[in-house]
Amino acid sequence: MTLSGKHVLVTAGPTHEPIDPVRYLANRSSGKQGFAIAAALAAQGARVTLIAGPVALPTPPRVTRIDVETALQMAAAVEAALPADAAIMVAAVADWRVEASAQKIKKGAAGPPTLTLVENPDILATLGRSLRRPRLLIGFAAETENVVAHARAKLARKGCDWIVANDVSADPMGGETNRVHIVTNDGVESWDRMAKDDVAERLADRIAVTI
Ligand code: C5P
Repeated sequence: MTLSGKHVLVTAGPTHEPIDPVRYLANRSSGKQGFAIAAALAAQGARVTLIAGPVALPTPPRVTRIDVETALQMAAAVEAALPADAAIMVAAVADWRVEASAQKIKKGAAGPPTLTLVENPDILATLGRSLRRPRLLIGFAAETENVVAHARAKLARKGCDWIVANDVSADPMGGETNRVHIVTNDGVESWDRMAKDDVAERLADRIAVTI
């Protein structure tokens, strides 16, 4: 029980950004990696708050789960769950939301609608600058090229301590495995491809010796 007495925040899954009352924008995140991390942290005794976008996954044992739909709701839920000793931001938050229509958009003579996108807040970067920043702040980076270089840039831009980067062209989102690189200010540690549950356990071990 190396994490007993610690409060750890985990975000997981996609966000859904409404276009109108029946449609939304989303991405391919399954939530599996974030849920596995929440489970592994709870198994080591942490008090875990899991803020989950819309996913079809059971809540891991001893985890407090808060379900949200949109990026704005996720940002508010993270704020409300503070303070935390560590935060692991695994969610694939939508970068943009839509200026949504209050009514269902109808097909018609006017042709296809134009969607106006508005940038969502960066929840991780906001936390990185916050006075209530958890002592250990971990971001994820799903990349399709130059994985480590992009992760290094992200580490600085978002003010976090570690970026867990993976190549989603090699391990597509929604799959069972990940090959991750842990990028910190001290360097890069590249792990072999392994099951998401194993990535989660190793990360929980690394977190337990850090906080
Ligand atoms: O910039 P990018 O979306 O690749 O960064 C990914 C990391 O930032 C993840 O940890 C993700 O949870 C977090 N993020 C966030 N809020 C956003 C966008 C990304 O917390 N609006």
